[in-house]
Amino acid sequence: MRLGEQEIRLDESFTGDPHPLLRRLRVEHPVRRAVTARGVPVWLVTRYADARALLADSRLSKDHRIAGDLFTKYVTATGGTAGSFTQALAAHMLNSDPPDHTRLRRLVNKAFTARTVARLRPRIEEITGELLDAMAGRDTVDLLASFAFPLPITVICELLGVPGDRHDDFQQWSNVLVSSATADPVEWASLAMSEYLAGLVAAKRAEPTEDLLSDLVHASDEGDRLSPTELVSMAFLLLVAGHETTVNLIGNAVLALLRHPEQLAALRADPGLMPNAVEEFLRYESPVNIATLRFTTEPVPVGEVTIPPGEFVMISLLSANRDTTRFPGPDRLDVTRQPGGHLAFGHGIHYCVGAPLARLEAEIALTRLLARFPDLALAAEPETLRWRDSTLVRGLATLPVRPGEA
Ligand code: HEM
Repeated sequence: MRLGEQEIRLDESFTGDPHPLLRRLRVEHPVRRAVTARGVPVWLVTRYADARALLADSRLSKDHRIAGDLFTKYVTATGGTAGSFTQALAAHMLNSDPPDHTRLRRLVNKAFTARTVARLRPRIEEITGELLDAMAGRDTVDLLASFAFPLPITVICELLGVPGDRHDDFQQWSNVLVSSATADPVEWASLAMSEYLAGLVAAKRAEPTEDLLSDLVHASDEGDRLSPTELVSMAFLLLVAGHETTVNLIGNAVLALLRHPEQLAALRADPGLMPNAVEEFLRYESPVNIATLRFTTEPVPVGEVTIPPGEFVMISLLSANRDTTRFPGPDRLDVTRQPGGHLAFGHGIHYCVGAPLARLEAEIALTRLLARFPDLALAAEPETLRWRDSTLVRGLATLPVRPGEA
């Protein structure tokens, strides 16, 4: 049956297994009306070339103030209340256009260059080692809860200067915020997060420490480079973006390898392949699905369709990275493939600032995991694994594995 005029709803049936629908959309309706699980109409873009072009198109805005009522409607419909969420947490660079975007991004660019991030290697190795030690000797573990979550959250919290005793709270709050939750928990989590971050900012102001948040507080106090609201929003963005995605890169990669034993064997035989393999994992099961919300500010022609002004556009990175016209045999995992140009980190001015950190974390995590547990195996039938009900991230709810002898 052709998709025709059928309503495309981005609900649980989509998030559970998005690839079949995305494959059909790329062929039949590459730019298509769809509605989110809570009924907000959007345009869904699924082909690589369109996705790449639109990600860098300045006729599409990310500024929630420009979107006005549209943004309020979206936030309300996705489970938040526009008041608290927009004011307290949404004034960050991923929701801004130039010149605000340029100013905000410049403040953190240096902290995430490949060179700066390389200095974190010993600490990332150490945290990885500790987490793997704790897994050794256990029969079955949830690789996400025991490894893939705690690693990036510990790294980003340490980098920003969030005390260790609050890491669990952060994990819980941000989990609520990116999953398709109902209004109450989202409201509660945004409030808890913004109150906590405001307190932390005050503490860093009173007593600066050697961390990124103290540097940002200093930049904010120096003049008009960062308003108090922007400061809290920046911390929020870095904390959430810094781990909600990396956890899925690690989890999706481990699942992909355990389902493709010949690829796992190739990687074990030549661990030097790992940096390239990480790019292939990013392409094959991209951790960000359609979390690329933008609004048209004027009519934007895309292929045979013209998207009118004032509409939401969601670009599926997951889909773009499986486009046959760009990646031959895209449904095949191949750790020796050269997947350069994949869009897992976006494209254009909002290209992921944390990409060097995510790459380093994944490379260390996967290399050490495979070396430490030669008999690592899935502890569930792949078909029974549940994916998180989120259109934002593409990741499993749990990943039960048997570590085997260490
Ligand atoms: C932006 C993906 C890890 C911080 C983005 C965007 C994508 C993305 C697709 C652009 C979204 C858009 O254009 O709408 C990922 C993936 C990651 C990852 C797949 C891990 C595998 C991280 C980490 C950080 C981070 C570790 C930590 C600092 C950010 C920030 C932005 C961003 C701050 C906004 C950049 C801007 O607006 O200029 N990320 N990210 N990300 N990411 Fe990441």
